[in-house]
Amino acid sequence: MISNKISRGINGNPIIPGDKSISHRSIIIPSISNGTCVVKNFLRSDDVINTLKAFKLMDVNIEDNNDEIVIHGQGLNSLKKPSKEIYLGNSGTSARLLTGLLASQNFNTILTGDSSLSSRPMDRISKPLSKMNAKISTNNGKMPINILGQNLINKEIEILIPSAQIKSGLMLAALNTKGISKIIENHITRDHTEIMLEYFGADIEVKKENRKKIISINGKKELKSKNINVPSDLSSSAFFIVAALINKNSHIVLRNININPSRNGILIALKKMGAKINLLNKKFSNNEEVCDIEVKSSTLQGCDLEEEISKLMIDEYPILSVAASFAKSPSIFRGLNELRVKESDRLKLINLNLLRCGIDNKIIRDDLLINPSDNYEVKNNAIKTDFDHRIAMAFAVMATRLGPLKIDDADSVNTSFPTFFVEFNKIGGIIS
Ligand code: S3P
Repeated sequence: MISNKISRGINGNPIIPGDKSISHRSIIIPSISNGTCVVKNFLRSDDVINTLKAFKLMDVNIEDNNDEIVIHGQGLNSLKKPSKEIYLGNSGTSARLLTGLLASQNFNTILTGDSSLSSRPMDRISKPLSKMNAKISTNNGKMPINILGQNLINKEIEILIPSAQIKSGLMLAALNTKGISKIIENHITRDHTEIMLEYFGADIEVKKENRKKIISINGKKELKSKNINVPSDLSSSAFFIVAALINKNSHIVLRNININPSRNGILIALKKMGAKINLLNKKFSNNEEVCDIEVKSSTLQGCDLEEEISKLMIDEYPILSVAASFAKSPSIFRGLNELRVKESDRLKLINLNLLRCGIDNKIIRDDLLINPSDNYEVKNNAIKTDFDHRIAMAFAVMATRLGPLKIDDADSVNTSFPTFFVEFNKIGGIIS
């Protein structure tokens, strides 16, 4: 629970931790490569720590030196059968990526998770993998996932659901499968796996044909480890960016943030709404684009966002909805079906919690319509999160404008951003 009055301005240089997606991949890919990898700015959040523990359980030599992680990889087939089930907590990324990776190993594994993860769809990864002859059973498409590891058969697989997790799970399976596997995507999704595999020297080719992306992987080729400097997370930054935009007298600068174009939808959307955001000192680090982000208080307009942009900002709708609540005109966000199967049913929780805050909004099929006003009267200050970190952080930002909100299970922020409340407090987000 947090208790705060209205903010007098959001100011300073909050420290944004390492990117969650890239941190997961910084454990997984070096663990199946050859050589030593030093990972800096690694995100120490519950989700990523669950991935790290999984690889330790499969006997990978991983040193944790506090400010860096050192992974001594021994190749594609060096993982050992874990002595027990692998527990992945709340982490959908770990579940989908490990299912693909472990389907092609020569031992059996069982993956389990917390109650949220156990209610999320896993057949979206097990079904396409079965086309490569993977032997995976689930509990009616949910966890636990029982994987009978074996040699797979290379195939051409078209992904029907836009999801970087599905794509990455298939790519990891293809790495340890003889011959060329092709993975075809119909929508852009984050491409951190492609970038890191290229960086590690995988035999991979990525082609674009009209709207399709075709990823060809020639499997059973060993990867060579390199060091990784994880850029800071744009999804975590988004809470601070919006807090600065919607509060008067605000000015923040966030350093070394990943602005990979397959992830930058939130910046496109906010700029369309009139946000004063400057991207400074752009450069590439380990083939990922990074920059510093400067944000100032802004008068926002509403916006109409098409479904296609949702693939570039799938995690940012809770906080974008907070921004839209303080715009001068209505917003409509289209095609949000995938939000229903995130860490919570995010579409339902955004709708419910905005209503509790007195903000007129409705769901029409898979679209969310927000009709902002100049004056809100909070109807019920209890924010329901269903242990969803991004709902908790979005409504902490909401409280900077509306005053005290009681956020249940606020320690869910540990999933992606354990230092969130410390940093939020430093920049004036919490006034006690
Ligand atoms: C992620 C992909 C996205 C995103 C998640 C992280 C990844 O999920 O929501 O937070 O690291 O690949 P989907 O692939 O289900 O869209």
